[in-house]
Amino acid sequence: MKNCMKLEILALSANESFARNAVAAFALSLNPTVSELSDIKTAVSEAVTNCIVHAYSRREGEQKIVIECISESTEDGGVLHITVTDYGCGIENVTQALTPFFTTLEGEERSGMGFTIMQTFMSDFSVKSERGKGTSVRMSKRFFSEERREKIG
Ligand SMILES: Nc1ncnc2c1ncn2[C@@H]1O[C@H](COP(=O)(O)OP(=O)(O)OP(=O)(O)O)[C@@H](O)[C@H]1O
Ligand SMILES: [Mg+2]
Repeated sequence: MKNCMKLEILALSANESFARNAVAAFALSLNPTVSELSDIKTAVSEAVTNCIVHAYSRREGEQKIVIECISESTEDGGVLHITVTDYGCGIENVTQALTPFFTTLEGEERSGMGFTIMQTFMSDFSVKSERGKGTSVRMSKRFFSEERREKIG
């Protein structure tokens, strides 16, 4: 079965927990383990936080974040695709931004580990960005049914 949802929120830190919990609630139909659900929440939280602290740091224009989720469930599991899009400043050098510990906000409580965390916690990950236009982070998480998990061990 295929399902989808689209969420549009303002880039406010108050909306970060709403976004991560909304995606987690949507993911429930795929019967994730507690640990898988926690991975998804962490990854979404990092992506949304980046939109708030980096994309719209100049606080100009309409500051919206669009989160799109597509779930596909099969007999032996399923997959959840998540896209987090902003229309902010964009990333000058994506390869550099993906490097562990790279941050443009040094000394401001940022450790430069957000993208690394997203990559580690999700099954697939990619970033598209255009200077002055915005950034789109795509992440997928694969799930296995309980039966399949038992077989794999
Ligand atoms: N949505 C975005 N828009 C513009 N720049 C971004 C965006 N997301 C990330 N970046 C840039 O990529 C860099 C790396 O992001 P990453 O999430 O890995 O680290 P961080 O946000 O700096 O620190 P941390 O996530 O550990 O708090 C950021 O410092 C920022 O320059
Ligand atoms: Mg970050």
